[in-house]
Amino acid sequence: MKNENEQPIGVFDSGLGGLTVVKQLQRILPNEHLVYFGDTARIPYGTKSKWLIQRFAMEDALFLLEFDIKLLVVACNTASSSALPILQNRLDIPVVGVVEPGAIAAVKETKNKKIGVIGTSATIGSGSYTQAILNRMPEAEVLGQPCPLLVPLVEEGWLDGEVTVLTLKKYLKPLMEAGVDTIILGCTHYPLLEPVIQRIVGPQVKLIDSGKETAKAVQKILKDLDLLNPKVKQSEDQYFVSDSPEAFSRIGSIFLGKQLPKVERVDFDRFLIEKSSSPLLQNLNEVVHAE
Ligand code: DGL
Repeated sequence: MKNENEQPIGVFDSGLGGLTVVKQLQRILPNEHLVYFGDTARIPYGTKSKWLIQRFAMEDALFLLEFDIKLLVVACNTASSSALPILQNRLDIPVVGVVEPGAIAAVKETKNKKIGVIGTSATIGSGSYTQAILNRMPEAEVLGQPCPLLVPLVEEGWLDGEVTVLTLKKYLKPLMEAGVDTIILGCTHYPLLEPVIQRIVGPQVKLIDSGKETAKAVQKILKDLDLLNPKVKQSEDQYFVSDSPEAFSRIGSIFLGKQLPKVERVDFDRFLIEKSSSPLLQNLNEVVHAE
């Protein structure tokens, strides 16, 4: 077994969007070895129910635990919104989601205490960002806007142009009318739309990239726990997906901002059958329904 500092960080997402978080982690934590799992066979999570997202998230985490990870990053906003408490309760390593870091940054940034949040329907429906903001700034006015059309647009590579601009204008209108001065990009895909969103809302509105804030939070946690890897990284990060790796590699390079190394497909159905008796997967529904 490796020295604890040299153990990898696990990162999971519903698909390839989490690569925007990987990009930020690689930027500020270049020594850390990352193992990424993208659940491309079951994407999107953003349209699914809370109990299903919790089950998927626990299964994704279980896969990454095979790599003896020292910390888990839930890169997916939807999974962070619905499954973070249950992951934190059941796993005995630090689990970091993207919601808290994004909310903390927005609270620091806002001047007029009016904050907009854009995300998938599940993320906005969960109220996770609103709660995280109100916990720190009870007098804040938080406006959540579900933007279900943005993920497909980004995955299509439509990062600008007429359809994307019109769609964004429609989604952003209520936030602008309410006078928000800060908007949280509460979805893995939205950092790719940052330039066009900024153009639409104007320079006076501050955009918060939750992934960027999360990377800073991970750095701080590792430092506080004395878990930073002092050694220069010798090998490539590892990437796994539950569906075919080709599209992931191709589109993923746009999210990561560089070519991906080898991406491996996991036989996830088989993995889950093998792990079906894991205590981590037991009574998930009961826990959800008891809430
Ligand atoms: N990764 C998801 C998120 O950040 C977006 C894609 C999906 O719906 O699964 O919310």
